[in-house]
Amino acid sequence: MSVKNVLKYGEKTLREKSKEVHKISKKITDLVQDLLDTMYAKNGVGLAAPQIGVNLRVFVIDVSTNEEPLNPIVFINPKIIKKSGALVSEEGCLSFPEAYTKVKRYKNVMVKAMDIHGRSFVLEAKDGSLLARAIQHENDHLDGILFIDHCANRFETEAALEKFNLPPLEVDKIIEEPELEKELNDN
Ligand code: NI
Repeated sequence: MSVKNVLKYGEKTLREKSKEVHKISKKITDLVQDLLDTMYAKNGVGLAAPQIGVNLRVFVIDVSTNEEPLNPIVFINPKIIKKSGALVSEEGCLSFPEAYTKVKRYKNVMVKAMDIHGRSFVLEAKDGSLLARAIQHENDHLDGILFIDHCANRFETEAALEKFNLPPLEVDKIIEEPELEKELNDN
């Protein structure tokens, strides 16, 4: 398949809610290959279908390091079924070239999804690992939610966006999660 153009923050598609996949057709297997090709070409840790202009509930993640063999994980119709703990850590996104900022995330997540063969699987990611954070980040893309919506400090995020000539923060999109706030304050 091929390396696609990654949509940048400001594009409407990134804010739309994606639709469920009903059948693993050739269209879906081609989409997954495009996502993988594009993610590896851009050195990303994850990529969601809306980022290449397709509003379907599909994303890919690979948290392997350069010294390790590739380890792609494909998530189709994912659902986060459990989440706990909280942390603040720095994140970026291929739709926000060069801009990094601190965001609030759950430390542990359990996700249920379908693989490329249509088989259901459950994956648990813990301790604020890169995988745990990537699952939350990519899953959000399917609902039109972006990492900056979880920013820990809106002034710092605003400055990062400005520095890289990206559109300003959409303040009305910022997510307040009382459960997450409580966990952060208890730490
Ligand atoms: Ni992203």
